[in-house]
Amino acid sequence: MAQQAHGKEIANGKPFLTDVKTLRARAREHLEGGALGTNYIGNAKKTVEILQTVLATEIVCVLRYTMHAVTASGLASDSVRAEFAEHAREEQDHMMLVAERINQLGGKPDFNPEGLASRSASQYAEGANLVDMIRENLVAERIAVDHYRELIRYFGNDDPGTKSMLQEILRKEEEHADDMHDLLVAHEGTPMLKS
Ligand SMILES: [Fe+2]
Ligand SMILES: [Fe+2]
Repeated sequence: MAQQAHGKEIANGKPFLTDVKTLRARAREHLEGGALGTNYIGNAKKTVEILQTVLATEIVCVLRYTMHAVTASGLASDSVRAEFAEHAREEQDHMMLVAERINQLGGKPDFNPEGLASRSASQYAEGANLVDMIRENLVAERIAVDHYRELIRYFGNDDPGTKSMLQEILRKEEEHADDMHDLLVAHEGTPMLKS
C-alpha cells in the first residue's frame, strides 16, 4: 500500500527517487536559500539504470570542468583554472568508477553522447565569465552532493558495494562544493551562500 513520507509517495516500502528536473530546481533554490541535502530511501532493483544517470552526470561534469579549465580568463584566473582542471580529472575518476561498477553488475555503461545531457542530473553550463563558471560548478556540485546522498540512502543495505562506491564519490563531491563555494566568496567578495 502506498504511503506518504516527506511528501514523497512510497511504493513497496521505498520512495521514488527525485527526478532530474527537481534536483536541478532544488540546487538553484539552494543558491538563494542556502539549504543543502535531501535524502530519500530508494530501490536497489534498478541499480544499473540508476548508475547510468550517475555516469551521465559525471561525464557532463568532466566536460564542463574541462571546458572551464581551458576557457577561464580574467584577473586571477590561473589558480581557478588549475582548480577546474583538477576537478575535471577527479570527475573522470568518478566516471570510471561508475562505468566499472555498471560493467561488474552486468550492464553496459552508456557513453553515448546522444541524449547525454538529458540523462545527466547536472547541466552543461558554460558560464559567461569566471564568476559565472564558478557559480555553475557550485550548482552542479550541490546537485551531485544531493543526488549521491539520496542514492546512498536509496541503496541502504541492498547493495553494499555500490553504496560504498557512492560514499567515496560523495566525499569528493563535498570537497568540490566547498572548493567552489570558497572560490565564489573569494571572487565575489561576499559570502552570498549560506550553507
Ligand atoms: Fe564527480
Ligand atoms: Fe564534483
